[in-house]
Amino acid sequence: MTREKELLALHESIRNCTLCPLHKTRTQAVPGEGPVHARIMFIGEAPGVQEDATGRPFVGRSGELLTEMIESIGLTRERVFITSVLKSRPPNNRTPTQSEIEACRPYIDRQIELIDPRIVVLLGGVAISSIVGPWKVSDSHGDYFEAKGRIFFMTYHPAAALRFPKAKALMKSDFEVLRSLLV
Ligand code: URA
Repeated sequence: MTREKELLALHESIRNCTLCPLHKTRTQAVPGEGPVHARIMFIGEAPGVQEDATGRPFVGRSGELLTEMIESIGLTRERVFITSVLKSRPPNNRTPTQSEIEACRPYIDRQIELIDPRIVVLLGGVAISSIVGPWKVSDSHGDYFEAKGRIFFMTYHPAAALRFPKAKALMKSDFEVLRSLLV
């Protein structure tokens, strides 16, 4: 099977997933979107109300800011892959539980494997702690490290940037560091 077909099949299983109780409350699962050969992948926390309604990642207010930041460093949404750690919306946008993160984990692991991006951008504490380690975003934002031929880059979640002007300014300067890694 080609990588593209495998990704489509994976997204189909995500849409039909019943591995955690969130499948009972979601409208639909949100696998993520972007080219299978994307060199950069952005990983958020979990779908919100608009993502749950449309089935597309980062289409609400956080998504608008993320798109703006992506464009500010000379990229476009069409060229990157965008997804979240959880594929189903937690009720009232509460923080994902550890067991939800664990249930969903094979999906993000397989997406990273199939897309095989050069850079993985972790947006916020849930993405950072789920994918790379127990670091606080306030300590690790703007930092990156290389593992298995990939760069893991840490920054704020756009929802935090919308809430706190200081986080927005820090996220903007993190994206300038990210720009310098796009070679
Ligand atoms: N926040 C996320 O982390 N993911 C989305 O898809 C939307 C908002």
